Amino acid sequence: MSLPKDNKDSIPEPTKGLEGIVAADTNLSSVNGEKGILRYCGFNIDDLALDTTFEETICILYDYELPTEDRLSEMTKNIGEARVLPDEVVEVITKLVGKTSPMSTLRTVVSALGHYEKNVPLSELAPKALRLVGQIATAVAMIHRLREGLPIIKADPERGHAEDFLRMLHGDEPSKIQINALNLYLILLADHGFNASTFSARVTAGTLANLHSAITSAVGTLSGPLHGGANEKAMDMILEVGKPENASEYIENAFNNKQKIMGFGHRVYKVDDARRIHLKNMTELVCKENGNMEIYRTAEEIERQVRKRKSIITNVDFYSAPLLYELGIPTDLFTPLFAMSRVAGWTAHVLEQYKNNRLIRPRARYVGQIDRTFTPLQHRSEKRF
Ligand code: SDX
Repeated sequence: MSLPKDNKDSIPEPTKGLEGIVAADTNLSSVNGEKGILRYCGFNIDDLALDTTFEETICILYDYELPTEDRLSEMTKNIGEARVLPDEVVEVITKLVGKTSPMSTLRTVVSALGHYEKNVPLSELAPKALRLVGQIATAVAMIHRLREGLPIIKADPERGHAEDFLRMLHGDEPSKIQINALNLYLILLADHGFNASTFSARVTAGTLANLHSAITSAVGTLSGPLHGGANEKAMDMILEVGKPENASEYIENAFNNKQKIMGFGHRVYKVDDARRIHLKNMTELVCKENGNMEIYRTAEEIERQVRKRKSIITNVDFYSAPLLYELGIPTDLFTPLFAMSRVAGWTAHVLEQYKNNRLIRPRARYVGQIDRTFTPLQHRSEKRF
């Protein structure tokens, strides 16, 4: 598109979607798209994936260091004690459930929680941020219990985050594999560079707006189907395909209709999403425990059929879907579960932004008409408007 002749600004052509643009430095996570490697503060997620807890990842993102036993017990206790909501926020959830989606309810809950927190200096912000990490899990479980007309299950601060969430959601004792599976999920989705929702949290924090405003921005951004909303759509697809032998025709039709296949493609990863293999393996384990290998085999065949036709990677949302499904999580809670994990990264990024802040304000290249003649209202003839 040629610029209007008298546009004085020699602004260069924008990069669509800011692809490849480096917006700032971070010490939190590094996403190596060429090699498919994800690290939190330098620790490879392959080392964190199977033998640690979500609380350990939170310690890394907040302390930039592996926790000692004492630090980990302190974090587990703090998060456990934070899994409590003010009565007024429980009322907000009660009023909204059934009328709005769980993700819209969660966005409102995060905003409402901000009313029950004092503004504190940066030095005291970490405990406030961690409270939100704990509260979001309770809110997600409560949204489900209330809309199903089930009694609310109070948090047990003595338990780990993943275990207590499953207990609050289902009202029964989760198995060891289920606790491991949810821990893995929460660890793997905790942070991921400047993905859209994290970046929106940083833009909001960059104005020195408060923590809850920044996280409300992030929740809203995550809800889109091109980002955190893809897991729900991926599950709908897996259920619609139903059996492995249906996958080929389904994917052929989708590509012929130029549809985007949810759970595939990524702006940064070019060879593989570092998190895929862990999610895939854990999905197989949970499906085996549930005696439901059909879901796993169908997902696997969909992946094969997509990769046969287009070199796009399987992203984090694809195997997240059957994994959460087999943990008995209702599909419309998948994106809230994503938020339950990513709030660790979001809050860590907000703290990082505040610590070394500069307002985030890129430019736009104006390509509209320039220097147009103003006509006073009384002289504007009807026919033109
Ligand atoms: C997440 O950024 C992060 O880190 C995000 C995330 C995180 O942890 O925070 O990893 C989580 O959001 C994962 C992405 C979840 N979204 C989806 O699964 C939705 C489906 N995916 C696509 O919409 C797409 O792949 C995006 C949005 C993820 C990335 O889009 P890009 O980088 O803008 O790529 P593009 O749309 O320009 O596509 C490039 C090409 C196109 O082909 P051509 O038209 O050039 O021939 O690849 C094709 C696209 O058609 N393509 C796909 C596709 N994704 C890309 N074709 C079919 N299905 C897809 N899913």
